[in-house]
Amino acid sequence: MEIYIEKNYDALSKRAADIIASFIKQKQIAVLGLPTGSTPQKTYEMLGKKCKKGEISFKKVKTFNLDEYSGLSFDNCQSYHSFMKKNLFSKTDIDIKNTFFPNDFKLDYKKYDKKIKESGGIDLQVLGIGRDGHIGFNEPGSKFSSKTREIFLAKTTIEDNARFFKSKKDVPQKAVTMGISTIMKAKKIILLASGEKKSRAVLNAIFGPVSTKVPASILQRHKNVIVILDEESAQKLIKK
Ligand code: PGA
Repeated sequence: MEIYIEKNYDALSKRAADIIASFIKQKQIAVLGLPTGSTPQKTYEMLGKKCKKGEISFKKVKTFNLDEYSGLSFDNCQSYHSFMKKNLFSKTDIDIKNTFFPNDFKLDYKKYDKKIKESGGIDLQVLGIGRDGHIGFNEPGSKFSSKTREIFLAKTTIEDNARFFKSKKDVPQKAVTMGISTIMKAKKIILLASGEKKSRAVLNAIFGPVSTKVPASILQRHKNVIVILDEESAQKLIKK
């Protein structure tokens, strides 16, 4: 693992945007796996700016999102379809036909893994991490062999995501997520974490035992992982 500890969220986002941008520039066709959430927001904003300035183009980029809530229409303002449109797709020259979500094939989730494979596999997968160590919505207990499927969200995830909804009651209980084996097939992975509340999950993911109790710990077994942290999320590593 290559680990960067940046001063703050802005520096973390710049590091991530620069790496993703140079990756896009190098590849003829880049297949990206992308997360939603607060963590990648600024990275997306910076990528949008680079695109506007003509430094990069998304014309030959394909994206596969990590997850999507079940039971929300695609145009619901809380859906991850809407998040991606607002934060990245509308800011770039990407062809919307090249953007995919795990519930695009209704309940036939296997088709998502198949679609990824047909696209040549994910070249670069960007991940956030949950307070409980989840990646995508692979909550603790998810099998390392899991593929794209529907799952129940953990209590901590519902609590954390309630900030985007009117109340906790409005957070969908279920979501469709890429599986852990789907994620691990990516050729390169970038894990982003920001803020003190992620510090325990970060410590367990990087230095803890590889265990389904902390899904992100499986990344220790991937050959090409870059971890980008801010000082707050890295505080338990720095003290070590
Ligand atoms: P966040 O979510 O970026 O909103 O903190 C990350 C995650 O739950 O994977």
